[in-house]
Amino acid sequence: MEALSPLEKKLLLELQRHDGSAAPEEIDMELVKTMNAASWLQSKRLVNMEERLVKEYELTDEGRRFLEEGLPEKKLLSMDGAGVDEVEEKFGKKDAGIMIGWAVRKGWCKIINKDGRKFIEITEEGRKAMEREQPEELALKEIAAGNHEIESSTAEILKKRRAIKERERIHRKIVLTERGWEIVNKGIEIEEELSQLTPQIIRSGEWKKKKFRRYDVRAFAPSIYAAKRHPLSQLIEKIRRIFAEMGFSEISGGYVESAFWNMDALFIPQDHPARDMQDTFYCKKPDKIEIDEELLNKVAEVHEHGIDGSRGWQYSFDKDESKKALLRTHTTVNTIRYLYQNPVPPAKVFSIERVFRRENIDSTHLPEFHQIEGIVYEEDANFGMLKGILREFYTRMGFEKIRFRPAYFPYTEPSMEIEVLFMGRWIELGGSGIFRPEVTKTFGIEYPVLAWGLGLERMAMILLGLKDIRTLYFSDIKWLHELPLL
Ligand code: PHE
Repeated sequence: MEALSPLEKKLLLELQRHDGSAAPEEIDMELVKTMNAASWLQSKRLVNMEERLVKEYELTDEGRRFLEEGLPEKKLLSMDGAGVDEVEEKFGKKDAGIMIGWAVRKGWCKIINKDGRKFIEITEEGRKAMEREQPEELALKEIAAGNHEIESSTAEILKKRRAIKERERIHRKIVLTERGWEIVNKGIEIEEELSQLTPQIIRSGEWKKKKFRRYDVRAFAPSIYAAKRHPLSQLIEKIRRIFAEMGFSEISGGYVESAFWNMDALFIPQDHPARDMQDTFYCKKPDKIEIDEELLNKVAEVHEHGIDGSRGWQYSFDKDESKKALLRTHTTVNTIRYLYQNPVPPAKVFSIERVFRRENIDSTHLPEFHQIEGIVYEEDANFGMLKGILREFYTRMGFEKIRFRPAYFPYTEPSMEIEVLFMGRWIELGGSGIFRPEVTKTFGIEYPVLAWGLGLERMAMILLGLKDIRTLYFSDIKWLHELPLL
């Protein structure tokens, strides 16, 4: 009761006065206010709104003429036995046609052919009918008097004869529900209530004396879909903030890279399956990217014979293979180049960027996706720290259960994969490890480098509860609207 506004109370009282049901127009209130109050009361289940589609009619000029003069076919009575030509002469060709047409159709007259002329012969039925008021005429009278409940077959005929026009209208009735009656029966009192707290009311102290209207937090309100960023952009922002808060700086790179930086510099052997055309998009234009000869020689040497106690891969390095242009397959290319350009420790950098792989698209795979890449390069960096950073990151992203599994990457040792628990299943979200000496020593990096590359879309799927990773890129507007802010 206390959550009812004065207008709602007023409407309830009005409905009580009308025995529980009334058309909005019958309520002694402004129509807009009635409709507003009714919709609030409806959401509180105190009233129902009954809607009925009804037909309403209006007389046309022709209809008014029928009403004044009677139906044209009735006038034929005075012409019994006359020739059709005489009828036409008296009433005009058009009207005569209408009169005779309808009279024949109704069985009121027959046309007799005699000596090449046509004559009117009124039937017995016709004679009787023409003396009586016809259903059409009765209906026209009703309509003229504002009554719209007309036999539908008669209305159809009058419509066809263009005597009336039909339009459809919605008739509304506001009806008290059982709960509405309960409230009404308890007795409703309308007292002045304040619905807004203004500075004046506070200053004057008036608020102490006044009664305030209660909020009904369960009341219906239309959803408003405010503009917001795409969920992936929101996630990227959140991840940026997390790494920034942990003391990292952001770096970036380009989509097109050489096999040298994407793979060779990371000690990925040139016959590694991931380098296959099946897995990597190689570019036609440019199909080659030049590499500094000295750098190339260094990396070739490490691949062939190793460095700092390593024996390398023991194969013959192909420098042309190094120069092949490709779409980067991981963002580890960003961090290795950063280290090459910034060999002086310490460093803590990350990137969140797009990578490309020749994957067939399905519910968990995309050929383009984002990786959350990062490194920590400092004297005391160690494996425990790596686990701590990743655990911290995923915890801040909202994951409670995280676990690490041993893994293998050609450029890290030790290596591990990170998995999170989602709906009872462990899901792999990324790889990490400490860069091998074959990677670091080549570029004069002296301290350990902790490195990771994590999938963004997989994580987004889990956080957004998606069954299909493609949803992220469908731009389904309904889904986007209804998605809460992250
Ligand atoms: N580059 C790896 C991948 O794309 C992830 C990774 C990054 C692994 C850094 C170890 C170190 O899956």
